Amino acid sequence: MHTVLWRIDADNIENSIIKKAACLLKEGGLVAFPTETVYGLGANGLDPSALRKIFEAKGRPQDNPLILHVAELKDAFHLAEKVPSKARILMEEFWPGPLTLVLPKSRFVPPEVTAGLDTVAIRMPAHPLALALIREAGLPIAAPSANRSGYPSPTTASHVLDDLEGRIDAVLDGGPTGIGLESTVLDVSGERPVILRPGGVTEEDLRRVIGEVELDRGITDSGIAPKSPGMKYTHYSPRAEVILLYGETPRVIAERVIMWMEKFASEHKMAGLLLTEETWNCLGASQDYLRAKNAVYVKNIGSRQNLEGIARLLYDELRRCDKAGADVILTETYQEEGIGRALMNRLRKSSGYRIADC
Ligand code: TXA
Ligand code: MG
Repeated sequence: MHTVLWRIDADNIENSIIKKAACLLKEGGLVAFPTETVYGLGANGLDPSALRKIFEAKGRPQDNPLILHVAELKDAFHLAEKVPSKARILMEEFWPGPLTLVLPKSRFVPPEVTAGLDTVAIRMPAHPLALALIREAGLPIAAPSANRSGYPSPTTASHVLDDLEGRIDAVLDGGPTGIGLESTVLDVSGERPVILRPGGVTEEDLRRVIGEVELDRGITDSGIAPKSPGMKYTHYSPRAEVILLYGETPRVIAERVIMWMEKFASEHKMAGLLLTEETWNCLGASQDYLRAKNAVYVKNIGSRQNLEGIARLLYDELRRCDKAGADVILTETYQEEGIGRALMNRLRKSSGYRIADC
């Protein structure tokens, strides 16, 4: 299959391209498109055979349900059997935006979307291209992240092509995505709202609007099965082994970087380093030493005062380490507040929950 690439300016949308892309979706094709979080792999959310193609193209396990993307509130109400008042408040406050709501499903939702569950995940993305495409198609669009299953989600069109070229019909290239991590998945189908996946809308944001919110314990405790099917798989993982660096101060972290690099050198391993500004400054004269040693990729990923900036770069940088031929990736860890929760959730998963000691 030839994958068509359409470049499109999100500030000046060329309607003829949106029409062609929407046409492909209506005909049962697969079209990747940008959202404010990551690129999604879109298909007609009401067409079982189009939905099955998503699983095939991504190599996605059959029991992992999909998110339906809508452009109008009334479509969410059509796809959900009932919408509790807290869910309504959240839609008003955070849609369009990086919040996915899990609701009891209506009879219009095919089982291919929900993997047989009686709930459906719905979100309204805040990206002009995504909204234009969904409106033009006039359909709910099922869209998982547009990566090969298990690999980090794509934040650029070239990531999508790296993973799926030849396996999907088209990619709408609207430039890099803004948030860089996936949406928050919040289950509002039961008594109390539960975060199944931390993401772009933070726990603090949710609390401010609806009060008490639980965090699924399966998210933080690797010994407990998560409630969201997708969270149980090895995920967000580059080919290289990911090692998480802990340390109380940048100086301690910098010392540990050097220790790890000595160890990797003795094991003849090539390393990728994703370090914060603070650690980078502490390394001082050792910066050149790292470069000269067995570091195939070194990146100052920004200040730990700006976790949003780090979140935006993370997946791209993990992929760059792979491309540079790293066997191992050393990455720092972050305070678990705000977007830091989602960041640490993805980092822990990408490291396979290994806590390594040097
Ligand atoms: O930001 C995002 O959410 C991106 C963009 C493209 O919108 N999409 C995305 O989709 O990350 P995906 O398929 O990669 O992740 C969807 C997550 C999975 O963990 C899945 O198991 C969970 O949502 N999910 C979907 N339906 C569910 C349901 N009914 N109950 C519980 N979890 C559900
Ligand atoms: Mg995904």
